[in-house]
Amino acid sequence: MAAASKASMDDGVPSVKVKPGRCTFVHVFVALTFIAVPCMLLYAPRFSLPTPRRGAAGFVGQRVGVVDAEEAHGGGGPVVVLDNQVGSPCASMRNHTICCDRSDYHSDVCFMAGDVRTDPATLSLLLFSPAADEQQVERIRPYTRKWDAFITQTIHEVTLRAARHHPAAAHHCDVRHAAPAFVMTAGGYSHNLFHAFNDGFLPAWLTSQHLRRRVVLAVVGYNQRWAGRFGELVAGLSASAHQIIDLVNDNRTHCFPGAIVGTRYHDYLAVDPARLRDNKTILDFHDFLAAAYGPRSQTKLDRTAGRRPRVGIVSRRGRRVVENEAAVARLAASVGFDVSVINTGTIINGVTAPPPLSALYASVAACDALVGVHGADLTAFLFLRPGAAALVQVAPLGISLLSRNLFGVPAARMRLRYEQYDVVGNESSLSRKYPPGHVVVADPATARREQGSKEWDLVEYVYLRGQNVSLDLGRFRETLATVHSCLMQQRWLSLPAV
Ligand SMILES: *[C@@H]1O[C@H](CO)[C@@H](O)[C@H](O)[C@H]1NC(C)=O
Ligand SMILES: *[C@@H]1O[C@H](CO)[C@@H](O)[C@H](O)[C@H]1NC(C)=O
Ligand SMILES: *[C@@H]1O[C@H](CO)[C@@H](O)[C@H](O)[C@H]1NC(C)=O
Ligand SMILES: *[C@@H]1O[C@H](CO)[C@@H](O)[C@H](O)[C@H]1NC(C)=O
Ligand SMILES: *[C@@H]1O[C@H](CO)[C@@H](O)[C@H](O)[C@H]1NC(C)=O
Repeated sequence: MAAASKASMDDGVPSVKVKPGRCTFVHVFVALTFIAVPCMLLYAPRFSLPTPRRGAAGFVGQRVGVVDAEEAHGGGGPVVVLDNQVGSPCASMRNHTICCDRSDYHSDVCFMAGDVRTDPATLSLLLFSPAADEQQVERIRPYTRKWDAFITQTIHEVTLRAARHHPAAAHHCDVRHAAPAFVMTAGGYSHNLFHAFNDGFLPAWLTSQHLRRRVVLAVVGYNQRWAGRFGELVAGLSASAHQIIDLVNDNRTHCFPGAIVGTRYHDYLAVDPARLRDNKTILDFHDFLAAAYGPRSQTKLDRTAGRRPRVGIVSRRGRRVVENEAAVARLAASVGFDVSVINTGTIINGVTAPPPLSALYASVAACDALVGVHGADLTAFLFLRPGAAALVQVAPLGISLLSRNLFGVPAARMRLRYEQYDVVGNESSLSRKYPPGHVVVADPATARREQGSKEWDLVEYVYLRGQNVSLDLGRFRETLATVHSCLMQQRWLSLPAV
């Protein structure tokens, strides 16, 4: 997975340890509340937008974002809050200004408050104001991997400029929008599920959720495939998703009362509540996903007391395949699970077609546990019920820490029971490729270190792309049994059937 290539930077760094061994789900009560409340109530904002407030400035419908206390108290003029980040230099910007926060390692993000118009010929957003500082020009590639020059150069660069308004000028509005523009990219590594969420939709959500869908998506690198595959998420982000703007190809002048260009980024599949004014967490992002996919999916959670918990086995093709998957499925059944095999792609004419995300959501949300080998498809753990479900990640040789950092730590933050099954030498297909005792199999940590600056090549071509696994059924049974007994301790599973 392309992802990972860059994840290598972090791979050597020890990170938060997920507590092993305890048989409790963290904050089960919170989780039960989540489950008990019907989606429609939780996600009401999707269906009934808050009416724009009539502001001190005396206009209706142009209000962008939340209005700061300063304005309410008649302070020094209107203050517009497009930026939801705690302590950001852009958190309380004046009208008619452009503010960029370039302090983060992962991404730049810019905000424009006031009369914003697109300039299709130059892929620019112009901020018109009577007293514009025409010197101010900002350029930004709206993606969350600014340290990754290779991919960042493929992202369209958007120019933001302050401009004097000449009433006679050609910048009349072809389309007027009542909500601010939110510029994001459909490009980057969005063909990969991990990246689509980690670099794209999760950052987009945490940057704009406080506006409660009152944004107009203006997308660079727009393509039908992206819009089709992620249609539910796009609709979850913007109430006017039906008029998503293809910023590069649309030759009309669109006008907005403000703009957000680019997205914040917190960590691998992470929402850091301490950085958000409204303290949102990854559980809120899970709710966003449930609202996006839940109503349309056919998820029927079986709450029958005494039922067997359901495990979904993520079935990969090509690389990092579980060679004895059928035996693993039988093993899971013998441990006491109902088993679903979740296919991550149907091969049509040699091309792997992923299942629609709503279908993936439905099959994963119906599971109490998800089991799979490290890979982008495991991003579907986001669809599991927080506090009530488990993730078992099989980590192939050589990528144990990477696996833990990319999925284990985020799963624990989502209050899932997390188990990592680290493959040993004789379970890896690499043991057939290398002579007995070879360092690549016997001691991957040393093998990686010995590569020096070429370490990532070994990881990518050998450990990630060159390896299948065959699980030791005796040892894997213990992992499954642990998860099973934890799940059985939950209320509706453990009560005797009536
Ligand atoms: C910001 O300026 C625009 C353009 O002059 C104006 O229409 C809008 O009402 C102002 N916004 C606020 C919040 O005062
Ligand atoms: C945009 O392009 C189309 C087709 O090329 C043309 O008919 C239309 O007039 C253009 N609109 C503007 C606002 O330039
Ligand atoms: C967010 O958390 C801080 C610190 O705990 C608290 O002071 C603040 O009121 C919280 N804000 C919201 C909107 O819950
Ligand atoms: C595989 O290796 C483990 C320990 O590394 C050992 O306990 C197990 O018996 C081995 N299995 C086989 C089939 O050789
Ligand atoms: C892994 O298994 C897949 C599917 O059976 C196969 O196509 C691939 O060549 C195998 N890879 C290795 C490294 O054994």
